[in-house]
Amino acid sequence: MEVLDRYESIVDDFAAFTAACERPLPSAVRVNTIKTTVERARAALDAEDITYDPVDWYPGLLKFPDDQPGTNWPYFHGWIYGQEEVSAVPAEVLDPEPGERVWDACAAPGSKTSQLAALMDDDGVVVATDSNLGRLSALRSNAERLGVTNVAVTHEDARNHSLKPFDNAEYDRALVDVPCSCEGTIRKNPDALDDWEYDHVKGISGVQKGVLRRAVQATKEGGTVVYSTCTFAPEENEAVVQHALETESCRVVDFDLGLEHSPGLTEWDGEAFDSSLANAARIYPHQNDTGGFFVAKLEVTAE
Ligand SMILES: C[S@@+](CC[C@H](N)C(=O)[O-])C[C@H]1O[C@@H](n2cnc3c(N)ncnc32)[C@H](O)[C@@H]1O
Repeated sequence: MEVLDRYESIVDDFAAFTAACERPLPSAVRVNTIKTTVERARAALDAEDITYDPVDWYPGLLKFPDDQPGTNWPYFHGWIYGQEEVSAVPAEVLDPEPGERVWDACAAPGSKTSQLAALMDDDGVVVATDSNLGRLSALRSNAERLGVTNVAVTHEDARNHSLKPFDNAEYDRALVDVPCSCEGTIRKNPDALDDWEYDHVKGISGVQKGVLRRAVQATKEGGTVVYSTCTFAPEENEAVVQHALETESCRVVDFDLGLEHSPGLTEWDGEAFDSSLANAARIYPHQNDTGGFFVAKLEVTAE
């Protein structure tokens, strides 16, 4: 937990933050609206006497205070999907529409891919890319259980993503939910910080920068790119978006979020970031009793 001490100067109520990081994370599920409605899923859970608390910012996202999400028949039928509450934020911010072309650049095991497909009413296409074949198998099996049909899977390094198999057509939107140091998952994985190394943070930021740049390049002018991580490290968050601002044609834009959050940083460790980074959201565990997340929304601009 000492790893998190480096954030004392940027987190309001640091004592509440560290206390929340030590508490276990409540389970949550997202109703899969490709297979059912929120009302039918809730009725099925009620029939099994499963207790849940709906969250007010996302219809069909239910907190499970007592039960494990994967041990009931609505789960086996693909009516619900175990997804941490805060993990539903990036796809909601990307806000894809039916019929669009969307790239999910780091997609496995598919929590957000299947959420994107549901937000699109399973219409249009979601290209789901990941560099890890084993994790792509999990994505395929999740997509199958959830009845998702508008997903095309590619196994490649997202930094070199090719549009060739897709008629070279640029995307309307892209989600860049990158690999990271996972500091914000400490409540789910108490050993998440055991192997934390600053060199890893710096190293992984190179991959993050490459994937975000490719997403901006592959998205059409006026299109939207959402960048997200489940970590607090500014080197993997604001610094990565700053790099995209300096190297690609894009700008950071504001968005509404129904969860309590803090603004993105405009300075860290002597490095200044563009003032627009304040439009990004830092979601800390104590603010909504969730895990931690960083989300930034970019608009692709003219070259
Ligand atoms: C945070 S996880 C993604 C979680 C996923 N978006 C979801 O909601 O289920 C990051 C993923 O990035 C993948 N990855 C790592 N480096 C990559 C790269 N260079 N290109 C594409 N995927 C990569 C990892 O295999 C991992 O599955």
